[in-house]
Amino acid sequence: MTECRLDGVLLGVATAATQIEGGCDTTNWADWAKTPGHIADGTTPVRATGHWERWREDTELMASLGIQTYRFGVEWARLEPQPGVFSDEAFAHYRDEITLLRDKGIRPLLTLHHFNNPRWFESMGAFEHPDCVPIFLRFVERVVTELGDLVEDWCTINEPNVYATFGYLYGVFPPGAKSLPRTLRVMTNLAHAHITAYELIHALRAGKPTRVTFAVHLRVFDPANPANPVHRALARAQEFLFQEAVTEAMCTGRFRMPLRRPAGIREGRYYDALGINYYSRSWVSKIGDAARPGAELNDLGWEIYPEGLERVARWAHDRWPAPIWVTENGTADNTERFRTQFLHDHLEIVSAARATGLPFERFYHWCFVDNWEWAEGEVPRFGIVALDYATQERTVKPSGRFYADVIAAGGVTAEIAARHLSS
Ligand code: FCB
Repeated sequence: MTECRLDGVLLGVATAATQIEGGCDTTNWADWAKTPGHIADGTTPVRATGHWERWREDTELMASLGIQTYRFGVEWARLEPQPGVFSDEAFAHYRDEITLLRDKGIRPLLTLHHFNNPRWFESMGAFEHPDCVPIFLRFVERVVTELGDLVEDWCTINEPNVYATFGYLYGVFPPGAKSLPRTLRVMTNLAHAHITAYELIHALRAGKPTRVTFAVHLRVFDPANPANPVHRALARAQEFLFQEAVTEAMCTGRFRMPLRRPAGIREGRYYDALGINYYSRSWVSKIGDAARPGAELNDLGWEIYPEGLERVARWAHDRWPAPIWVTENGTADNTERFRTQFLHDHLEIVSAARATGLPFERFYHWCFVDNWEWAEGEVPRFGIVALDYATQERTVKPSGRFYADVIAAGGVTAEIAARHLSS
């Protein structure tokens, strides 16, 4: 089957401030990138795609492809350059950008935290600091006050599980720590920050339509040998520690061991949609990440496994029912070899799963223009629009034209499939 309908699913693209804007050298990532070895190709986010200057061009391009909704982040370091001191100029910039999005009929979904800290927050210990939650809430309050009349949909925190494990357990993101207790503290504090931000955003916007979520990175963890009890136990342990405990805490305020419930947090419902970032599966025979032998891989060695999108969505929805927003899905494909097929296959899963009652409501392709991919730098290409870093020139890729046709038709028609997919 190649055709599918996507009625009822809003189709968009997702980005993050630090990965696209450029020009901001006061973030944790700009500092982290200064140390040789931290970023695979030695690049820095200070270049990125130059979106801070080219936001009009990017918004026009998005509109020309028919993009219906745009998930993007704000750069905290620009908005609050010193603790408690906010920049009117930076707020005005984002207001102009969001206004143009809305004028073009593109629905904004604003991410408040996407791996990015101002230098001042990082140097005081970021989400390990005892006051991290009130400090984050001061920022959230200001953003909602300044931009709230333009935005109904909010994503508090992106991938708390990746931020915590990559930064504090594997040491490959700032601050480069390798400590399980620190990882758990950061996860706990991020969940605390989300819950209180959820309540704050709703309180500030009382009476106005508002939906608040967070975006969790969900993987399928399959035992390499299902008959091997060690593989099974390791798969289950990783699933629980990497994604289940923290998602449960953020959705419900229930903190299970090894997380600990912060004082003042009660059990409740702290999400209006399930925000899922899905990329791949882990094939488990030991601690750590591996791909299934023989699997088709993307350019970063991640297994291409579209069925996993339905599996993680069902897994999460069974536990925490809500409309499902695929807040990120995409792939590193530097030569545009398989992205169209990848996008098609994941959209087909969304369509088929919806038909069985799984309430997929939104799908955000990661990403729009090729961007700066954290510790991997400028090499991996995730965009449906190609970037020439030297000239900053943008060129829509075949997958971008495919996506535009799908959006216009409300699904994949036989004609679209024939035009864009090989055999
Ligand atoms: C996710 C991140 C996003 C991007 C994609 C490829 O983990 O949220 O910023 O790096 O991976």
